[in-house]
Amino acid sequence: LASIEVDVSSLQPGMSLTAKWRGKPIFIRNRTPKEIEEANAVALADLKDPVARNANLPADAQASDLDRSAGQGKENWIVMIGSCTHLGCVPLGQAGDFGGWFCPCHGSHYDTAGRIRKGPAPQNLAVPTFSFVSDTVIKIG
Ligand code: FES
Repeated sequence: LASIEVDVSSLQPGMSLTAKWRGKPIFIRNRTPKEIEEANAVALADLKDPVARNANLPADAQASDLDRSAGQGKENWIVMIGSCTHLGCVPLGQAGDFGGWFCPCHGSHYDTAGRIRKGPAPQNLAVPTFSFVSDTVIKIG
């Protein structure tokens, strides 16, 4: 299936955009140092879903903030499929009890690394296959 390229040059820290890929919303966020810090402060043992769910990593990779992000040196970037892992509603950004995403359909709260922290959703928001083709362009798929 086709991949897409998204220009993220306009995203200052704290800003995000939603692209569309394979009929699904893709959330791309340039996280602030505070948002990264908050996610890093969470013990893996406290996570409902301890698995990274990152298509770019082995299936058993853990849901550390680094492994949820675009990786070393690009920890500020998070790219996720914007589909709640409960029943597929589109979560709202910068909302919910953990400052990440909130799904209004049945009340699932995701943190700033897109990890499920409260509510009925069983898994972290999925990270699709992606790569940076330049400093400001992300290829998804
Ligand atoms: Fe998101 Fe049910 S679809 S909480």
